Amino acid sequence: MKKTVETFKNAKQNGTKITMLTAYDYTMAKMVDECGVDSILVGDSLGMVCLGYENTLSVTMEDMIHHTKAVSRGTKNALIIADMPFMSYQTSPYDAVVNAGRLIKEGHANAVKLEGGKNIINQVKAIVDAQIPVIGHIGLTPQSVNVFGGFKVQGKELENAKKIIDDAKALQDAGVFAIVLECVPQKLAKHITQILSIPTIGIGAGANCDGQVLVYQDMLKINSDFVPKFVKSFCDAGTVMRDGISQYISEVKEKKFPSQEHTFAIDDEILNKLY
Ligand code: KIV
Repeated sequence: MKKTVETFKNAKQNGTKITMLTAYDYTMAKMVDECGVDSILVGDSLGMVCLGYENTLSVTMEDMIHHTKAVSRGTKNALIIADMPFMSYQTSPYDAVVNAGRLIKEGHANAVKLEGGKNIINQVKAIVDAQIPVIGHIGLTPQSVNVFGGFKVQGKELENAKKIIDDAKALQDAGVFAIVLECVPQKLAKHITQILSIPTIGIGAGANCDGQVLVYQDMLKINSDFVPKFVKSFCDAGTVMRDGISQYISEVKEKKFPSQEHTFAIDDEILNKLY
């Protein structure tokens, strides 16, 4: 059955954990969806894990629409959330609505995600007013990497912790249906989860959030670049894939592949007429 924002609401009420994973293309979206995940995030992390940038700042609306379209073609049941890329909403509520609308109309996402709290509250309200479901994202917000001076845990100091709580409340009041809490201390995430009526989705925020999200390349160990402390490798798909690729190279070089079973036949009668 198709998951909706109601699924998120009910999960919070029933105490059922919400699952979210990233996907950026048709094949992976299909796999993740068939496994029964509640929600697929087409994260702007695609800038790093798919496009090879050092952060998410270079990701464009065209990149997001292109990948969201592919994900939507592979997804039957999961709620599809598309990230709004850097500078697609910070500039004005008008830009925010236009670009959120493009992710829904052209990308076929079901909802959009924006990074920030009170600083983007007018943008959030405008998108919600346009009848587009919004998920917030606070704590470590990677689009602010140049302000943070790196990818660091947020909310360890009093003022910063208070700010994250205020941002969470403001986002809830503005009408978001859930909030991603990235890289904040577990007890702060627990407190925010308890005071909000909407679900929190944690990434590096401990076990008390209402749901969890991870980047699939990290949790399947496909990504050989830096892997953050909060990531658990649920399997070593990277080794399996590397072994398969190496074996393919060897078998082609050694003339073992393709064997008879992987080739097509033609009647000798037809063949004889060719020469
Ligand atoms: O872009 C992304 O993948 C994200 C998750 C890390 C939450 O925003």
